[in-house]
Amino acid sequence: MRLGSKPRSRIAGTGHYAPARILGNHDLERMVDTSDEWIVERTGIRQRHLAAEGECSSDMAAQAAKSALEAAGIAATDLDLIIVATITGDMPLPATAVFVQQKIGARSDCPAFDIAAACAGFIYGLSIADRFLATGGARNVLVVGVELLSRVVNWKDRTTCVLFGDGAGAAVLTPAGDDGRGLLSTHLYADGSQAAALHIPAGGSARPASHATVDRGQHLVHMAGQDVFKYAVRALSAASITALEANELSRDEVRWVVPHQANLRIIEAVSKRVGIGLDRFVLNIERYGNTSSASIPIALDEAARAGTIKPGDLLLMCALGAGFAWGSALVRF
Ligand code: ACO
Repeated sequence: MRLGSKPRSRIAGTGHYAPARILGNHDLERMVDTSDEWIVERTGIRQRHLAAEGECSSDMAAQAAKSALEAAGIAATDLDLIIVATITGDMPLPATAVFVQQKIGARSDCPAFDIAAACAGFIYGLSIADRFLATGGARNVLVVGVELLSRVVNWKDRTTCVLFGDGAGAAVLTPAGDDGRGLLSTHLYADGSQAAALHIPAGGSARPASHATVDRGQHLVHMAGQDVFKYAVRALSAASITALEANELSRDEVRWVVPHQANLRIIEAVSKRVGIGLDRFVLNIERYGNTSSASIPIALDEAARAGTIKPGDLLLMCALGAGFAWGSALVRF
């Protein structure tokens, strides 16, 4: 937990990347037994971006990172830490962050590592970056959320394949100034008792990849959707309220909520529980689907570039994903 009204780090620039290929709901109608109407009504999703053949997570992450660095006015050679949040890295070994380091041209004394907190990855990453900045361990930190879920989704399972999309979002964090802008707090949580609600059962050390695991589809996403839904509404609402209370800030002071975009109905329920109108939520789920750790930084960057989110706005972010791992962050942008 990180509390306090004097920020230690601030978001100096953001960027995002979405692959060109778009898969609409009507395309999915030809692949599984579903309908545009069902998907829109139950999830709010109309389309999602899919990576091109041969395109990998570090390619997308590097594009988002370059855009964030440009927005921040910082050269890749000035970075001294790279954190990549992903559960769909280029390969099990090594970390995707080292490929990003190479592709953007960062120095070899700039450490680079991945974190696996699923959809909460960007908030976990912000929290880690903030602590490096607070202790003087780093001055310019790149946090990327990138996901290539289309390669781990079961395209024959209509209960999951309609939900996810590919993309990357990034932020560059630097030390906060005296103007009050920056990261006010992060609250992180995890509940491993719920691990089976959303997982990829095989391909790790517990159940190594084999012909049998592939035949059974155990290298793909398995999800108990309703369990995730119910837990998400409760946990995201509680984490959001805790963030406000810890900073002694009222709901009215929040200009924008930038939530993880998993399901519009989850977001609507959180809006009601937290008591902040949906008109103050940044929403792009309609166009991206669930891009897991990339979803908050993509939404943040789009809204910042559109001028919707303005410097000085108070932002509340919240996300929950596999684990379950979840969290909230309050940022004076
Ligand atoms: N098209 C048509 N019908 C479908 C589809 C589909 N794509 N998917 C499911 N159905 C059917 C079901 O089979 C079921 O049929 P039945 O009543 O005949 O059995 C019916 O629709 C209702 O299914 P439910 O599962 O009850 O539908 P629900 O309203 O719960 O919506 C959904 C399902 C969208 C998956 C929802 O539960 C959800 O969004 N859950 C949360 C997912 C999430 O947030 N994940 C975030 C973490 S992701 C991460 O960490 C990487």
